[in-house]
Amino acid sequence: MKKREISYAAREYSETKNSLRMRECIEQYTITVLANDVRALRILDAGCGDGLYSRFFADLGASYVLGVDCTPEFVSLALEKSGAYANIDYRLGFIQEFLGKGDFDLVLGSYLLNYAQSREELIGYCRAIASHLKPSGRFVGFNNNPFEVFDGTRYGAYGFTKTMHGDGEGQKVVYEVPSMTAPIINYYLSPQTHEQAFAEADLELEWKEVLLRPEEDRLYWKSFFENGPPLIAMIAKKKCL
Ligand SMILES: C[S@@+](CC[C@H](N)C(=O)[O-])C[C@H]1O[C@@H](n2cnc3c(N)ncnc32)[C@H](O)[C@@H]1O
Repeated sequence: MKKREISYAAREYSETKNSLRMRECIEQYTITVLANDVRALRILDAGCGDGLYSRFFADLGASYVLGVDCTPEFVSLALEKSGAYANIDYRLGFIQEFLGKGDFDLVLGSYLLNYAQSREELIGYCRAIASHLKPSGRFVGFNNNPFEVFDGTRYGAYGFTKTMHGDGEGQKVVYEVPSMTAPIINYYLSPQTHEQAFAEADLELEWKEVLLRPEEDRLYWKSFFENGPPLIAMIAKKKCL
């Protein structure tokens, strides 16, 4: 399995939670709605970064959260920020190399799947996710939107830019935030490739539109939603075999 470093600094990414409005009123809101009631659940936060959602779910009553991330800098930051939580553990590793025992109720992948560069690699991510889920468990994903295809740069009005050049499989999709010194590099894989990869892992995939928190100004966010939106969410359940 090919191993890669991420392109940006963990602390700079972590700070975008405060500087990028979208992260709270769209990303966090959508994840909260899709995850629904997490009280007493065992949750795997795959690609946990600084542990933002590990702590978020623990605060909402999850019984146990395991965060997994392949970047040492992110795992150190997650440990530093989560000292007060006895029910969160972090593990350094690539999700595709960490197979589970079917003992999690929920797996979250917040900006995880868009790091896979090929169908084969995405299948590896999906198989790992499926291996961690209980038969009744579910995956909640939040990701670059593979239904949005363009050639150029968009979304500057919302505090970040997304640049892509068509829909070639494995093509770079580059997100830039002015406060970050390096871009976030994701990879384009088509909706069909996602659907096949989930099916290969015996997961039933359902695409979900991202949601705007009801109290937000709809007019301000109009072109964010009309032009894409750049992001998408998903839910997947294990197939009953
Ligand atoms: C954009 S950050 C998102 C972090 C966090 N989920 C959030 O929403 O704040 C993506 C994270 O995924 C991690 N990552 C990327 N590919 C991974 C893989 N194959 N296995 C585990 N972690 C991965 C990166 O190290 C990074 O911390």
